[in-house]
Amino acid sequence: MRSANPALDVTPSASRLTNSLRDIGYTFTSAIADLVDNSISAGASRVDIDICFEGENSYVLIADDGSGMTDRDLTEALRFGSRREYAEDELGRYGLGLKTASLSQCKRVTVVTRQAPVRRRISTRTLDLEHIIDTDRWELTEVPDDTKAYRAFEWLDHSPGTVVVWENLDRILPAGRAEGGGARRRMDSLGTRLGDHLGAVFHRFIEGSAAGGETLAITVNGKKVPAWNPFAPDEEHTRSLTERQFEVWAGDEVGTVAFSPTVLPARSLFSSMGEFERMSGPGKWNRQQGLYIYRADRLIQSGGWCGIRAIDEHTKLARAALDFPPSLDEMFRINVAKMRVALPAEIRPLLEPHVTELCHRAQDMYRRDLREGASASDSDRESISRDAAEIGGAILSAALATSTTPALAKIIGHLRDENPGVVESLGW
Ligand SMILES: Nc1ncnc2c1ncn2[C@@H]1O[C@H](COP(=O)(O)OP(=O)(O)OP(=O)(O)O)[C@@H](O)[C@H]1O
Ligand SMILES: [Mg+2]
Repeated sequence: MRSANPALDVTPSASRLTNSLRDIGYTFTSAIADLVDNSISAGASRVDIDICFEGENSYVLIADDGSGMTDRDLTEALRFGSRREYAEDELGRYGLGLKTASLSQCKRVTVVTRQAPVRRRISTRTLDLEHIIDTDRWELTEVPDDTKAYRAFEWLDHSPGTVVVWENLDRILPAGRAEGGGARRRMDSLGTRLGDHLGAVFHRFIEGSAAGGETLAITVNGKKVPAWNPFAPDEEHTRSLTERQFEVWAGDEVGTVAFSPTVLPARSLFSSMGEFERMSGPGKWNRQQGLYIYRADRLIQSGGWCGIRAIDEHTKLARAALDFPPSLDEMFRINVAKMRVALPAEIRPLLEPHVTELCHRAQDMYRRDLREGASASDSDRESISRDAAEIGGAILSAALATSTTPALAKIIGHLRDENPGVVESLGW
């Protein structure tokens, strides 16, 4: 008998949905970081990444020495929305990363894995976007003959582990631009950027200070990735302030959020200029001030004050770690690519007084540099002169809008005699 209100099947179109999932927000570096998460969850102590340029046949290989997978695990791992339970502090959450991160960068991903420690039993599967589009079905395919995944067999010859191979790198080397020096340089620069990114995101794992205590070695194109710890713990004049812990309830879940503030040394107190420059980080000192938000020891957000206060030259030495456990994922609104979190409204007022105190202390440290006559670093000077040129431009547009350019011309003429440096800085 037909029910009065029959449920209608609206199974998504495999081809359209898979294609849309490619644009979920990964970059090359964050996609690889998502695979390193999987390696860490599998207990790896080593992850080697090779970015191999061979024109249209270029490929990326991510190999770990983790616990590997059985044949059945591997099939499940390649399902969008893998079915499994997660431990409390695990990095995975959605059952999507392996697929979405990989297909955000390439059209064909092959996974080669071995779990048995003694028997050399290796399983292999391929997820090919072109097959999904052609058939409109979520199916795995045989490993293609022209794959570079055979390299993975060497890696798994003696012990367990997993190797992920990306081929048809259409997002990294778009069709028609995959050959030649420009394409090679693009691949080379990805390697450099990747090392910097992984060194920061996984610095606690590389240093061995993450909860498990084991250390992780990561290499990119054979080069060991050094940890980039934003708090310069090895500098003599780094000042760690008192850590604060807040217990937070999110529905039935309770979790502890830890706030660990640090004042970094003023430029003149750093052990060397090289170290001062290295610690400035990818965004340079000003933009790297603020909160470093960690989920289960993995860095998700690197600097910025999440709206608590504005970036300010005078507080550039203030950095604070904010740690939250996966039980508070929903509250922090972590995204699938694990690139973004939102500071929960409940936590903001708890942090504010401690952030203010940290910034006062950081200003004192900053003034020390000024007292000791140290000038701004090259990068700071660059950003200050950019700001000045912007101000100059804004004043010029305001003069135009208010028909006062003749008056401004007089002012500029006067300044040119009295204070030519100012005229130059303002870009006039
Ligand atoms: N390198 C690996 N070693 C062993 N098992 C792996 C590896 N990579 C993936 N897996 C298995 O495949 C499953 C699916 O991985 P995937 O990254 O797609 O999702 P997830 O890690 O569970 O969650 P998230 O979407 O948050 O990353 C994992 O849960 C794990 O069981
Ligand atoms: Mg994952």
